Amino acid sequence: MTDPSLDIDHLRSEGDINISPLRQKWSLQHIDEETQKVLQEDNEVFLHQSLSTPCLNVLEKCEGSYIIDTRGRRLLDFHGNNVHQLGFSHPKVIAAIEQQMASLSFCTRRYTNQVAIDLARKLVSLAPGDLNRVLFAPGGTAAMGMALKLARAATGRHKIISMWDSFHGASLDAISIGGEAIFRSGMGPLLPGCEHVPPPDNRHCPFKCGEKCNLSCSDYVEYVLEKEGDVAAVVAETVRCTPFIPPADYWKRIRKACDRHGALLILDEIPHCLGRTGRMFTCEHYGIVPDMLVIGKGLGGGVFPLAGLLAREELNQAMPHKALGHYTHEKNPVACAAGLAAIEVIETEGLLDHAIDMGEHARKRMQDMATRFPLIGDIRGLGLLMGMELLLDKHTGERAIQEAEAVMYACLNRGLNFKVTMGNILTLTPPITITRDEMDHAMDILEASIAEVSQAM
Ligand SMILES: Cc1ncc(COP(=O)(O)O)c(C=O)c1O
Repeated sequence: MTDPSLDIDHLRSEGDINISPLRQKWSLQHIDEETQKVLQEDNEVFLHQSLSTPCLNVLEKCEGSYIIDTRGRRLLDFHGNNVHQLGFSHPKVIAAIEQQMASLSFCTRRYTNQVAIDLARKLVSLAPGDLNRVLFAPGGTAAMGMALKLARAATGRHKIISMWDSFHGASLDAISIGGEAIFRSGMGPLLPGCEHVPPPDNRHCPFKCGEKCNLSCSDYVEYVLEKEGDVAAVVAETVRCTPFIPPADYWKRIRKACDRHGALLILDEIPHCLGRTGRMFTCEHYGIVPDMLVIGKGLGGGVFPLAGLLAREELNQAMPHKALGHYTHEKNPVACAAGLAAIEVIETEGLLDHAIDMGEHARKRMQDMATRFPLIGDIRGLGLLMGMELLLDKHTGERAIQEAEAVMYACLNRGLNFKVTMGNILTLTPPITITRDEMDHAMDILEASIAEVSQAM
């Protein structure tokens, strides 16, 4: 049960949490006895943590844009942990995996394999600028750790500037640069030299420039770079997956500030690389090239954990006396086959353009809803990385936290799954293979759910 003295709202930054009263109420109403038994087994064997166990429900199947629970309820998945750019179980990805498993299913260290080389070369050919060097890892957090080590090795400095509210993974090094209390608080001393600055979120920005953002937040990054004088890198998500969409000039300014102060720029595009925003890499929208780009999630075709660090040629200097990654699955041929197949599908099926078209269509529908429901404070997005912010008061920016959670459960009841970030932002990240009919169905569900919650207010 929820401890009533616990302030749970500040824990809602990364996603909706599993200890809220509404969650308990929903479970009692919608989870049958058989499913409760499986949830209980999960509860008894897994370590409990916010955002997972105790879990919400039990899945039986996933296919295309849908997850399907053990009672056969189909939910359009606008969450998918952002691995599902191609939806689930894309036949071309599955075929590539099966084919690869039949020959080389693993690659022992000290050896390489053609499919890993092919994926690395493909990524280099797609990446902007001279991001010519690749190192794979079995997950985004690990790849972020490699980026931090390379920044230290290359600059001889250790300080990092990163953003409040950001997420770069849950390990100790990643939470040191991350900016969310749910991961950081009570975890003891974190990495030294990690400083945080406000993210480019004009609605809740401490500089209070509001709608007419004057980029004070980017000036402040330069201010800290100058005061410290020896910062190794600025690390940030190109677009926070909440999402906050930085203004057009934001990254150009940060890029220049990094160059002026000898700091590297490391961009984390783990959740939206390879097409979610309508470009293979999100930094392409901003016309800049970072010194390192970290990708993951969809890179494994929605099946395998696979992430990658792309670095500029001149950063290829950790050899021969330093190891950056050394992960067991560094060149896993099956994961790489899945990644190569996923990229091929994105290219041959024109999914980048489709992501832009579907994103525009969905945002139009949501903007239309915003004219009818005062609860909707803001709609934003880039391609199919979309957010709807629910506010109690547009002028003060007061977050509609209970209402956002209620909308999420109302959507689940109607067959749409997504997560809520920062307590009040409906974060909508469908597969980029989504059809127009599926998108319209999702928007109908969203609209009906917002109407239901608005009426009850
Ligand atoms: C922006 C960002 N960085 C890093 C990570 C960590 O990736 P992984 O869970 O693969 O370790 C995530 C995962 O959600 C993420 O969203």
